[in-house]
Amino acid sequence: MEMSEIPVVTSPAGMAAMTERWRLAGETIALVPTMGYLHEGHASLIRRAREKAGKVVVSIFVNPIQFGPNEDYASYPRDLKGDIALAAAEGADLIFAPEAAALYGPDFQTTVSVAKITQGLCGTSRPGHFAGVTTVVALLFNLVRPHLAVFGAKDYQQAAVIRRMSADLFFGIEIDVAPIVRESSGLALSSRNSYLSPQERAEATVLFQSLRLAEGVVRSGERDAGKVIEAMRELIDGVASSRIDYIAIVDPDSLEPVTVIDRDVRALLAVYIGTTRLIDNLRISPDPGRP
Ligand code: PAJ
Repeated sequence: MEMSEIPVVTSPAGMAAMTERWRLAGETIALVPTMGYLHEGHASLIRRAREKAGKVVVSIFVNPIQFGPNEDYASYPRDLKGDIALAAAEGADLIFAPEAAALYGPDFQTTVSVAKITQGLCGTSRPGHFAGVTTVVALLFNLVRPHLAVFGAKDYQQAAVIRRMSADLFFGIEIDVAPIVRESSGLALSSRNSYLSPQERAEATVLFQSLRLAEGVVRSGERDAGKVIEAMRELIDGVASSRIDYIAIVDPDSLEPVTVIDRDVRALLAVYIGTTRLIDNLRISPDPGRP
């Protein structure tokens, strides 16, 4: 037990045994999967899980198989002590923080992958990323066997991919997606914001600004998605440290590109600020009566 009096389980068998006991006692179990370095966005997911289930498990695992060879696995920020304190303060009942070797032994050979909805958007710029995510999430679902799992809309495509996997494989787990938590500047909270210099942090607000611009353009009558994307691109290109990975306007469920905005859509983007790749997204409704 830590000082915070929250159990921290590192072994997969220990993890499975804990929730098995809870299940037999009739408890409802929620899982909040994370890669740690927890912030207020993660905290909001834990609170949501707390409201909906009797027992809340938070997993903290920087999952090596979802990082590409030129990505930031080695440098990804880590602070297990701080994470334990935050999760405990938000009312989590258990932390699962395994070593990579405990989940992926030398004989590990399995991949869980989802086809169509992982193509495009982040799937294009990060090949293999979503297979890494679905493999670890399937593994966590099997170990914890929660009734409910909470994800954030910050990673909009990821949430859609996990919904698809969970339905396709009959996991029988309710997938709950929580709204994006932002700084007052509009910048979506992210563990990767810690890579940004103070100046880059200010420049990174252009992601949200471009989404609000898109919303404004649509509200004032523009229905051509290409034109909306062009306006976003122009705004972002005005920031010297920025490099656009993608900007897309898609159907909120299928994530297929939309050309005419005649219903609710989702605008998504990935932009490098310096060397840091950031993502954000916003629902956009052409109906001015809707929020
Ligand atoms: P991580 O980036 O740590 O995010 C964990 C969860 O927190 C995700 O569901 C993410 O969408 C959510 N989240 C992050 N920032 C948020 C914000 N500002 N507002 C609301 N929710 C936010 O996503 C992952 O880890 C991994 O891919 C994982 C699913 C754990 C698999 O390894």
